Amino acid sequence: MKFSSAIAFLALTVQDASAFAPASSIAPSTRATTPLFVAADLERPLAEETASNGEAAEEMDLKSLRRDPTPHAKPVSFATKCASLYSSKPGAERALAPPVYFGSTFLLDDAGHGARLHEKREAPYTDDDGFVYSRWGSPTNEAAALQIAALEGVDNDNDPRGLGSSLLFNSGMSSITASLMAVLRAGDHAIFPYTVYGGTHEFVSDFAQHWGVEVTFVDAAGKDGPANYKAAFRENTRVVYTETPANPTMRLTDLAGVAGVVDEFYGKADNVVGMHPTERKRPYVMVDGTFASPYHQKVLDIEGIDVSIHSATKFLSGHSDVLAGAVTSRSEPFLHGVAKVQKLISAPLNPMDSFLLARGLRTLDVRMQRHGENAIKVARMLEEHPLVQSVFYPGLDSHPDRELADGIFRSGRDDDMEDDDDEAPPQTYGGMISFIVAGEGEEALRRARNVCENLRVVNLAVSLGGVESLCEHPASMTHTMIPREQRVAGGLHDGLIRLSIGLERAKDLVHDLKNSLDMCDDEGCDTGF
Ligand SMILES: Cc1ncc(COP(=O)(O)O)c(C=O)c1O
Repeated sequence: MKFSSAIAFLALTVQDASAFAPASSIAPSTRATTPLFVAADLERPLAEETASNGEAAEEMDLKSLRRDPTPHAKPVSFATKCASLYSSKPGAERALAPPVYFGSTFLLDDAGHGARLHEKREAPYTDDDGFVYSRWGSPTNEAAALQIAALEGVDNDNDPRGLGSSLLFNSGMSSITASLMAVLRAGDHAIFPYTVYGGTHEFVSDFAQHWGVEVTFVDAAGKDGPANYKAAFRENTRVVYTETPANPTMRLTDLAGVAGVVDEFYGKADNVVGMHPTERKRPYVMVDGTFASPYHQKVLDIEGIDVSIHSATKFLSGHSDVLAGAVTSRSEPFLHGVAKVQKLISAPLNPMDSFLLARGLRTLDVRMQRHGENAIKVARMLEEHPLVQSVFYPGLDSHPDRELADGIFRSGRDDDMEDDDDEAPPQTYGGMISFIVAGEGEEALRRARNVCENLRVVNLAVSLGGVESLCEHPASMTHTMIPREQRVAGGLHDGLIRLSIGLERAKDLVHDLKNSLDMCDDEGCDTGF
């Protein structure tokens, strides 16, 4: 049998060679059993080299090819060759694109090493002692998590508020449910906005409440939001949950105001960040900031906000090809709790999706800027159209939370940039727009559905944040699980359409939406669905 056929090594060539997380940020013990190197600039892959050397390769000492020689014997029999570990040759890790570690388990130095790793409490990242088992963390996942922590601004060693960390999950919903499960127990109380992603509402109503958690829904939007939260506070309130910009109404929550009323009622956050979730009395203030991404909104920079959550399926990944979620916090005990839920109930983001997420993050800055530049043009056209009753886009003067928007949307500006800084990117307001078609009840419903169906450039699909534009009708799709009276109380009208504006040429998008609306200006539009 040819030696090369026994080499369990796969190299893909991908034309992508820009910098990633520095190697020093990834813990050293990455001896996963099945690394997949995705790199343009690897030296010749081992399989290629051994094939070109023909039979001579059979003579090669396998151990000399191993990066970490182990005391194992050189395999001789076919079955053992199949089942054995064949590492790539030294230097492969110098690939500019990060390797994907598919391994479910990691080699241990000795039994004591295994015992040490099992004694540890759950933590977001591994330490220098290495990885043990992928359900408790793995290198590709950790590299992407470190990058998100950096983008959330919690990676500064000199920050007096302390360092923070991110944990990655296999969906945005998993990151939401894990954060809630890490904190809430039967008898606790939690406050949620009426306008919240449909899945979050469904978890709260179908699970949290059945597990004995008391829940109050409030109108979180605009200047009255903080007072509405305050009116719902109780002694046993453990979670104050927000989603801003809200899906799908695009209303904004005054996060500093909410944190302020929490301070007034429960005391400041300073002394409670390091407390175990069951000991601290101050509720956790959690923000789902999926629609803005950290490009626009670094919520952990706001004093009194404890937890930042994202569906990384959306803008963070950016290509509609990954399901992922992220939780970031500066509170170590909270993250230990989340890591425990991840280990026992949920699962960490898998290696391939971690790789794709990290790859998407590398263009987040430029993508977000273009999303915003396109979206304002579409929003302005919609505002002028006679069949549109109202448009909700934070960049429009007509947006009910316009003042808040200017404080919230940072457009990738660094802390040391003044507004008039030449290098400061122009102010933009993200890629999400919602608008309400003219009409009431059944007429509005039919019209909204027909506008979605008439589009030819914008795709009719749920989800958001990808390079391509998407359109959906929340009342019959993403938010149908929220009772109608609650939807309406939160501003979700039957005729509301949600747009995720992509990176196409703005003119094409404007034309497409205008055409689709124009077609609804006659009776024919109202026949369908
Ligand atoms: C604001 C928001 N949060 C969370 C989620 C859930 O994310 P995922 O679909 O990745 O589970 C979504 C999904 O659309 C969302 O829009």
